[in-house]
Amino acid sequence: MIEQLLPPGVTSSEAFDDAAPAPLFPAEAALMAGRRARRRRQFATARACARRCLSQLGRRPVALLPGPGGAPAWPDGVVGSITHCDGYRAAVAAHARDTAALGIDAEPAGPLPPGVLSLIASDTERAHLAELSAADPATPWERLFFSAKEATYKAWYPATSTWLGFRDATLALRPDGTFTATLHPPQPPPVDPVYEGRWLASESLVITAVARGWGAVPPV
Ligand SMILES: CC(C)(COP(=O)(O)OP(=O)(O)OC[C@H]1O[C@@H](n2cnc3c(N)ncnc32)[C@H](O)[C@@H]1OP(=O)(O)O)[C@@H](O)C(=O)NCCC(=O)NCCS
Repeated sequence: MIEQLLPPGVTSSEAFDDAAPAPLFPAEAALMAGRRARRRRQFATARACARRCLSQLGRRPVALLPGPGGAPAWPDGVVGSITHCDGYRAAVAAHARDTAALGIDAEPAGPLPPGVLSLIASDTERAHLAELSAADPATPWERLFFSAKEATYKAWYPATSTWLGFRDATLALRPDGTFTATLHPPQPPPVDPVYEGRWLASESLVITAVARGWGAVPPV
């Protein structure tokens, strides 16, 4: 599914369960020691996805340990992103010379828990979501909104090592499968504050992706 959202040059790999063998490097296994079985399985399958991405880039498999802020430390010259949720694990990666930043996020489709939207969306954003929902009630716009902000954060953080709150970005989803996040953190951002992204929604999942350098990929 996720490859539909990615520009040329970005590799991807996804899994819908943890059935395939997903061996860990010793340092990764040590990190997961004592963690719950579900977390260990998701971590391992997502790492296997990430190493398939590296292989597609012609890079050798390496341990992918969390760096500062929890962002995975990709090898030099590579940017990438990882997501996992019930029923889905995925990784994307690209040569840093081609793509400055990548962020992906997957969430189960369906409404957000009560009270969440008011924490993550401004009044303007909520009005926009209400318009989208009125025009197309079958699409889980609020869940997509949440996911798109998380994907934006995953693209932002590795480039800046800076926290970004949900209210530090204004997000506009569009029915054509694209979105734009305009960041306005308290300090002037050290990178271009406009992030373009793409989304898709199936019956069970929403998936969002942000990349610098979309080129001329047609809307989903
Ligand atoms: C970090 C965060 C985005 C992860 O999202 P999530 O839906 O909880 O979990 P996902 O499974 O989709 O993603 C987890 C993966 O994200 C990656 N990740 C974690 N922290 C990250 C960071 N700071 N930067 C980039 N990637 C990060 C990791 O690869 C992690 O998986 P791993 O621990 O197995 O390596 C979320 O927990 C969070 O802190 N959000 C608040 C910040 C935010 O989203 N602000 C919105 C600004 S507009």
